Amino acid sequence: MKVAIIGTGYVGLVTGTCLAESGNDVVCVDNNPKKIAVLQTGGIPIYEPGLQELVARNARDGRLSFTPDLAAAVRAARLVFIAVGTPQSDEGDADLTAVFAVADAIGEALKDVPPGAPGARVVVTKSTVPVGTNAKVAERLAAKGCAHVDVASNPEFLKEGAAIEDFMKPDRVVVGVRRSEAAEVLRELYAPFLRTERPFLVMTPESAEMTKYAANAMLATKISFINEMANLCDRLGADINDVRKGIGHDQRIGFQFLFPGPGYGGSCFPKDVEAIIAMGRRTDLPLELMRAVDAVNDAQKRVLFEKVRAHYAEELAGKTLALWGLAFKPRTDDIREAPALTLIDALLEAGVKVRVHDPEATANVREIYGDKLHYADRPYGALEGADGLVVVTEWAEFRNPDFEVMKRLLAQRVIFDGRNVYDPKLLRQLGFTYYGIGRGA
Ligand code: UGA
Repeated sequence: MKVAIIGTGYVGLVTGTCLAESGNDVVCVDNNPKKIAVLQTGGIPIYEPGLQELVARNARDGRLSFTPDLAAAVRAARLVFIAVGTPQSDEGDADLTAVFAVADAIGEALKDVPPGAPGARVVVTKSTVPVGTNAKVAERLAAKGCAHVDVASNPEFLKEGAAIEDFMKPDRVVVGVRRSEAAEVLRELYAPFLRTERPFLVMTPESAEMTKYAANAMLATKISFINEMANLCDRLGADINDVRKGIGHDQRIGFQFLFPGPGYGGSCFPKDVEAIIAMGRRTDLPLELMRAVDAVNDAQKRVLFEKVRAHYAEELAGKTLALWGLAFKPRTDDIREAPALTLIDALLEAGVKVRVHDPEATANVREIYGDKLHYADRPYGALEGADGLVVVTEWAEFRNPDFEVMKRLLAQRVIFDGRNVYDPKLLRQLGFTYYGIGRGA
């Protein structure tokens, strides 16, 4: 099938590449000529495990190409995906400027194309958009004389760091349509990915749009819930890791997404929780739970700093701390809304010298902090002379370090384990002062 993807950000590029991999003829469009130039010469503008190889192979085999020419790509395509960014506006709403600009450009490109040629066309919104946006996209297309073009909502559920696997083996595919013909085109497109009896769920565009927000809201709620329980464990001398297991065996609760930490970050949860709160505000529904989830997370981002401050007390200014992990989670270079940034800001403000290491995100952090931080190429390099280590992101390489080497390198044997990756008993036996999240310290 001929597919055009508008927007070669994270979602657009993964979607386009995976659709090419399943044999479709995919053209990815972006209005940023630099991005297109990088992609045309075999590079990719983001870090995502496995993506570079997949882009290169599909480009080489002629199934995947890149162009700044939206009109030509749209005219040749049967399916047009809108996958541009929806950043947070000042009111907390999703900013739909890019989505609507693209919808208008698609309408402009298709207005002279006779209905039905070269087959039913469907414009599909992949971007996360507030409920009601697809209806507005349809209105805009109609205003350009393209009322015959179907509009569909098809939210994505990709996790950064595992996006290819998530696309290739989705738990489910959700599409929101007005006419069943549009759903059938999408069913055909996704059939290769649903061979293991994964469901293809058809609903209205409004329900599909809402599904995306409800999914992220539920996941964010789980994290704020476990973080709140962890903070209570800290105060009452219980260990959240045992509590987590104790509740997880109840199948109604389960184990997934209940790991406490320094708060959720990234480009999705913080923005989507704000957006759902904004949708409530517009409809006079206070959404108390969502506001609490958001507030708990804001406070959680300060928890590591509070533990550091409590430990060093008056001596904090002038100390040196090592930070392992800067990205908002492992296997990405993404630092948007990362808890590490909140911690770094608070440490610098308190007069602490900060030495950092991250396997992928250092360049992005350097863009913000320049020479205010010391950047170490290797994890152990960050520890030299430091008065303590804070593990902020649980990259796999931090899980089994050589504690004897660490003891030699650190000036003070103190570990703040922001992701509960170490065994508190073992570390204390080895002579470290250990602080976890909710480990009763
Ligand atoms: C999230 C969702 O998981 C995807 O399903 C969704 O498609 C995506 O947002 C999106 O809306 O596009 P992502 O932001 O890539 O994906 O990252 P997650 O793996 O979900 O992690 C989000 C944050 O929650 C991270 O900061 C992570 O450290 C934190 N987290 C996650 C915890 O603190 N504890 C957990 O148990 C799980």
